[in-house]
Amino acid sequence: MLDISIYAQRRARLLAKMQHGIAIIPSAPEQQRNADADFPYRFDSNFYYLSGFAEPESVLVLIAGDQPQSILFCREKDMEREIWHGYRSGPDAAQDQFGFDAAYSISRLDEKLTGLMCNQPALFYPMGADTAWDMRMLKLRGAVQEKARSGVRAPDRLCDIRVLLNEMRLFKDAHELAVMRRAAAISTDAHKRAMQFTRPGHFEYQVEAELLHEFCRNGARDPAYTSIVAGGASACVLHYIDNNAQLHDGDLLLIDAGCELDGYASDITRTFPVNGQFSAAQKDVYEIVLASQAAAIAAALPGNSWEAPHNAALRILAQGFIDLKLCQGSVDGVLESESYKKFYMHRTGHWLGMDVHDVGEYKTDGQWRNLQSGMVLTVEPGCYIRPGDEVPIALWNIGIRIEDDLLITDTGHEVLTDAAPKTIAAIEELMKS
Ligand code: GLY
Ligand code: MN
Ligand code: MN
Repeated sequence: MLDISIYAQRRARLLAKMQHGIAIIPSAPEQQRNADADFPYRFDSNFYYLSGFAEPESVLVLIAGDQPQSILFCREKDMEREIWHGYRSGPDAAQDQFGFDAAYSISRLDEKLTGLMCNQPALFYPMGADTAWDMRMLKLRGAVQEKARSGVRAPDRLCDIRVLLNEMRLFKDAHELAVMRRAAAISTDAHKRAMQFTRPGHFEYQVEAELLHEFCRNGARDPAYTSIVAGGASACVLHYIDNNAQLHDGDLLLIDAGCELDGYASDITRTFPVNGQFSAAQKDVYEIVLASQAAAIAAALPGNSWEAPHNAALRILAQGFIDLKLCQGSVDGVLESESYKKFYMHRTGHWLGMDVHDVGEYKTDGQWRNLQSGMVLTVEPGCYIRPGDEVPIALWNIGIRIEDDLLITDTGHEVLTDAAPKTIAAIEELMKS
């Protein structure tokens, strides 16, 4: 049963932050794949966050002030279309079921907006997100301006609604956390399933199929991003998604995969041996990455800077790269010269939420912001060793990343994805079974 009060409360909070003016928040367009086939529909995150309404061709209009209003524009009922493509709520049922103050056919959007925009001091929308929408907003505002002689004023402030919305979305509420915990649990099971399935001779896409099967059978129809299933040297390609190679005895397999559940992402990476047993060289590198992740997780505490986990991971990685003879000099020297970047070239995490790389500023007033209760982030250090003259041959083509999803709490953190094995002993044990 849909709890519409969550969405109504979010709209009320946003309306209070706006103070005055009108906000126009469209959902995402449908995307054609080819000929008569579309990509599976994915609503716009901001629109869904505020409405819970998943149908395409929908627009939310919010009017702030003494009498705040939430208005939905959506597709009309259409029996012919519904026979071919499925149920449409239509404005009347949508208004009732989703708790809007009013709802109209999407075909009336421009006509109604030219009225609703009159005498509003500010126009909020996702500025620059879509050029066609930018043009449409300015054209509608222009149409209101043309009524000046009848004493009507057009909004004279244009504001990006995302400035307010992103900050709201950065702090997850109880409903969001419940969904994210479930998404994390499904993805955790998928990684375990992949570990148990993997063996030399299988293809990467067969492992990918195991992940997708586990997602889908639990109601998470889509991955939050294209799964990375990278055997051997391909693990050193950060965004490898070909997933078409055979897996070889003696290689590692890096899987970066997470499901999306009811609009919320999970994002897990595990790296493990195709044959179930780490080699000595693989163990050496793996233990360094694992230790760097533990240090980063330990630093992910309320009040600590966003940079604290990254810096904690970097120090361990730098020492490890020196021990492995990948880098020379002292830890401070390696950090100063950034020579570690040849083997660790990305940052240690990102916000996680409705989008896998979720919204929210990382700096405020030019400073890295502090972690606070309710934020969800990933912690994902790695090490990617490409062949090279200066690189010990035993380490060539080892690519390792270990990624978990963390909720910052009042007193520390909760690792949402802790159940996916990551110590060498736990991985080898699971793969034996
Ligand atoms: N899977 C994307 C990332 O880890 O950022
Ligand atoms: Mn990530
Ligand atoms: Mn990832």
